[in-house]
Amino acid sequence: MRISTGIYGLDELLGGGYLKNTVNIILGSTGTGKTVFALQYLLKGLEDGEKAIYVSFDMDVEDVIQVATSLGWFEIEDYINNNMLLINKFFAENVTYLNDNLINFIVENSDGNTRIVIDSFTPLIASLSYEMRNDVNWFFAKLKEYGTALISLEEPLNGDLSDPSIVIPLFLGDSVIQLKSLGYGEAFNRTLRIVKHRRSWHAEGVFPYRILDGIGIYVEGASYVEESRKKIDLDAVFDELGVSKSSIPEKILRRLEVLAKNSDEEAERIIIEIVKRYR
Ligand SMILES: Nc1ncnc2c1ncn2[C@@H]1O[C@H](COP(=O)(O)OP(=O)(O)O)[C@@H](O)[C@H]1O
Ligand SMILES: [Mg+2]
Repeated sequence: MRISTGIYGLDELLGGGYLKNTVNIILGSTGTGKTVFALQYLLKGLEDGEKAIYVSFDMDVEDVIQVATSLGWFEIEDYINNNMLLINKFFAENVTYLNDNLINFIVENSDGNTRIVIDSFTPLIASLSYEMRNDVNWFFAKLKEYGTALISLEEPLNGDLSDPSIVIPLFLGDSVIQLKSLGYGEAFNRTLRIVKHRRSWHAEGVFPYRILDGIGIYVEGASYVEESRKKIDLDAVFDELGVSKSSIPEKILRRLEVLAKNSDEEAERIIIEIVKRYR
């Protein structure tokens, strides 16, 4: 089952949205739109009647309301008032590393199908060392038990991603989306890339996005990707190349069938190359 991200044009690039009960990473430097992304993700769930939890270390309820209303999402206050959206600001200095307060807050307030956001995870794991990998693994497993989580990570401005506090969550996350802001004067000021999506197809390449009043994040290119994805008629490929199906080992044939089901022009070319070998 897929969880719609609520981001315009993004579900199509993820093969239908996030997978249920996963931990999904948004990586980006400051100002790329991680907080806008997170709120848009929560609002999508709230609209569908799901519960939502927003945890941060720098935004309190008033700050969240301000960001949302600046984008025209005035309904945010109703969701807060009727307890569908829970917002909790933790103080990083009081959080003794992925501590019980944080996980208890999530456990107590989740119904098992909750959209959980931690925006951002960086203050929580700033002093992370590689030995703490198991702790992050444990924490992510907990989150998955209680819902489908979105975790933002601050990308250092110098682009160095080798720090354990970045590498470990990237490695353990089920999906990673990287947001980039190039600055004015560039052809595409803001671009998005899906670095990984475990157990799912995802679009490759870089997609421009914009942050718009009312809409929030809008990703371009979904319709192009949808058009280039197509179901390939394997029988037609065999006919055209004059290859008989029986001349291909059963196992290879099964694999080609899987690839043909969910494919694009690039894959079609590869299928043709493989079938040709059996001419
Ligand atoms: N109401 C708005 N209308 C248009 N753009 C906005 C609006 N609110 C925020 N933005 C854009 O989003 C950027 C900040 O996004 P934010 O989610 O706070 O980034 P991050 O959390 O990654 O630091 C702003 O610099 C601005 O360009
Ligand atoms: Mg932010």
